[in-house]
Amino acid sequence: MPDFDTSVPHIARVYDYWLGGKDNFAADRQLGEQTLQAYPHIVFSVRANRAFLTRSVRFLAAEAGITQFLDIGTGLPTADNIHEVAQREAPDSRIVYADHDPVVITHAKALLRSTPQGALDYLDADLRDPGTILASAAGTLDFSKPVAIMLLAVLQFAADGEAGAIVQRLTAACAPGSYLVISHPASDIDAERHIEMVRRMNESMAQKVTLRDHAAVTRLFAGLELAEPGVVKASLWRPDSPAQAATPTVLWAGVARKP
Ligand SMILES: C[S@@+](CC[C@H](N)C(=O)[O-])C[C@H]1O[C@@H](n2cnc3c(N)ncnc32)[C@H](O)[C@@H]1O
Repeated sequence: MPDFDTSVPHIARVYDYWLGGKDNFAADRQLGEQTLQAYPHIVFSVRANRAFLTRSVRFLAAEAGITQFLDIGTGLPTADNIHEVAQREAPDSRIVYADHDPVVITHAKALLRSTPQGALDYLDADLRDPGTILASAAGTLDFSKPVAIMLLAVLQFAADGEAGAIVQRLTAACAPGSYLVISHPASDIDAERHIEMVRRMNESMAQKVTLRDHAAVTRLFAGLELAEPGVVKASLWRPDSPAQAATPTVLWAGVARKP
């Protein structure tokens, strides 16, 4: 018996459906379609999020000298997973993936491989228990040296009040020179259609989504130095091409350094 219920849609698999993946069940596809009807641009938005992931990891590995990554809310394996982007730049990069969905962890263990010089680990863990994540990740990452904490499209599953405390706990454990990367679904971009889409998600998913506006997402970076261009739409964070910059997205995104 699997220890998850395939009759209830789950964000990891709905997201996989939006990205055109095959790791989803009927309930996920049904919600995938309902959300697409409410907000047809969601497919572009998730692609813009993945492109932001690639660009931010490339910046961290190639320009900021980061070789350690703690990614919470990893999602199902897809193209350009964090270790692939990081280890292309720095083959000795060490990455810990954490997700609370057992399907994600099983697939990650089966499909994701490190370079011989680097290391990968996979944690079945909950974002809302950052202490346990930090303790387990310390088996692979050296927190006395800079680490990038990656929170991409996941903090919306933490309630108001909770999200800021989680970020504080994670960044407090990191050495100066560490980075925080966040992308977060917005309450103030294409608001009417996006809010309707999320209402449909919250009707059927066990974990509820909290949207946040630009000011609230910016507050999550309190005490850190935001890299240029600050907190912007995910597609506008250092785009590689005019086509990337023009991709519709409903996510705010930013990268910041711990002084
Ligand atoms: C929308 S996907 C984002 C995947 C990836 N980070 C990206 O940006 O492409 C959200 C992921 O967060 C995971 N997740 C949701 N709530 C979580 C929690 N409380 N603890 C750990 N992972 C969580 C889901 O299982 C899913 O894989």
